Amino acid sequence: MKQLTMKPSNPLRGTIKVPGDKSISHRSVMFGSIANGTTRVEGFLPGADCQATIACFKSMGVSIEQHSPTSLTIEGVGWEGLKEPEELLDVGNSGTTIRLMLGILAGRPFYSAVAGDESIARRPMDRVLDPLREMGAKVDGRQGGRFTPLGVRGGGLKGIHYQSPVASAQIKSCILLAGLQATGETIVEEPHLSRDHTERMLRAFGVEVNSFSGGVSLHGGQQLIGKDVRVPGDISSAAFPLVAALLVPGSHITIQDVGLNPARTGILDVLHAMGAMVEVKETGEWSGEPVGDITVSASDLQGTEISGELIPRLIDEIPIIAVAATQAKGKTIIRDAAELKVKETNRIAVTATELSKLGANIEETPDGLIIEGGTPLHSGICDSRGDHRIGMATAIAGMVAKGGATVENATAINVSFPGFAELMAELSEK
Ligand code: S3P
Repeated sequence: MKQLTMKPSNPLRGTIKVPGDKSISHRSVMFGSIANGTTRVEGFLPGADCQATIACFKSMGVSIEQHSPTSLTIEGVGWEGLKEPEELLDVGNSGTTIRLMLGILAGRPFYSAVAGDESIARRPMDRVLDPLREMGAKVDGRQGGRFTPLGVRGGGLKGIHYQSPVASAQIKSCILLAGLQATGETIVEEPHLSRDHTERMLRAFGVEVNSFSGGVSLHGGQQLIGKDVRVPGDISSAAFPLVAALLVPGSHITIQDVGLNPARTGILDVLHAMGAMVEVKETGEWSGEPVGDITVSASDLQGTEISGELIPRLIDEIPIIAVAATQAKGKTIIRDAAELKVKETNRIAVTATELSKLGANIEETPDGLIIEGGTPLHSGICDSRGDHRIGMATAIAGMVAKGGATVENATAINVSFPGFAELMAELSEK
C-alpha cells in the first residue's frame, strides 16, 4: 500500500471497532515480560510499532506467543530473568518502545545496543537519558550521547526526584520503570498530567504507585506479577473515523469499546466545544481503564482555541483536529503544542504543508497552528512522510476534498491502524 487514494465519500454509516490502544499494547508486552508469571493479552494492536516491542523482548529471552494478531501469551521472566540481547534491539519507528525500554535497560546488569529507523535517529533521547544518567545509568550515543544508536550498560541505579520540563508519558514512564529497579524512592513531577496508562497497569500488576496532584512516586525493589490484560480500542485511531463522520454530510456512526481514559479524551472535549454531535456511553472498565461507545453524527462545526492542560490530552490528535478545523466556521488556534515538533515528523510543519496542498488555509506558528476554517478543499497529492497520523489525517481530508486526494507513502498507516483503508471503505458503503 504505497499510495492510498480517497474519493469524496458517501455518508458514513455503521457500528465499528478500532484496533487496540497503542500505548496500552506496548505496556502489556513490556510489563508482561518483566513480571513474574503469565500475562495473556486480548485486543493487542498488531501494528508495526507494537510488533517491534515484541521482537525486542523476545531478543532478551522472553517467550511471547502470538496466537492471533490480537492475542498473546507472555511468559514473564521477572526483572532478573531478562537476558543480555545478542543482537541490536531494533525499535523501528516507535518512540514509545525506545523510551520506555530504556527505563528497563538502564537497571539491568548487561550491555544492550538500541536503534530504530531514520525518524527515531532524529528524535531527542536526552529527555529520558538525562534523568536516567542522574539515576546512575551509563548510556552513550551519537552527538554527545543524545541520539541513536545508543549503547546501554545498566545497573546500580538510585531513586531521583525529577521535575520534567514537559508533560510526557514517555519520560514519566521511563523514569518510573528505572525507579522500580533503583534504591529508594523515585518521584516524577510534570507540568500537566500526561497519559497515566503506566501507573494504572503497574497497579494492576501489583505494584504500589502513589499518584498525587502534579506527579507520581514509587519505591524501588518492587516485583510485578503477571496479569491478564484486555486492551480497549485506541481513541487516537477512533479520532479518524469520528472526524470523517462529522465532516461527511448525512453520516452517523458508532465506535464501540474505545478507551476513555480522561488523560486521552481531550479530542472529545474539543469536538464538543466545536459544536459536534458526539455522544459517549461508558460501558465498563478493562484492566483499570474506562471503556465505552462513541456515537457521532455529521455536524456544523465552529472554530475553537486549544492550549494548556488540554494539549497532552490530545497530543496525537492534532493533525486530525486540524482537518476538522479546515471545515469549521471561523478560526481555530492551537497553542502550547511545541512537542509536536519532535513526534514521528515535525507535525506542526508537516500538517500545515500537507493540508495546504489540498487548499487548506493553515499557518504554522512556533508552538501550534492557526487554521482559517470554512475553506473548501480541492484534490491533490499528499505525502505521509512516513508518519502514520499524517497519512490518516490527509486521507480523511481526501474524503471531503472535491476530487479526493492521494496519499503517498501510505504504508506508514500500518504503524498504528492496520486495516484503516478497508474500515473507511466499509463505513462509506453502508
Ligand atoms: C505515548 C506518549 C505520547 C504519545 C505517544 C505515545 C505513550 O508521547 O505522543 O504516541 O505511549 O506513552 P510523549 O510522552 O512523548 O508526549
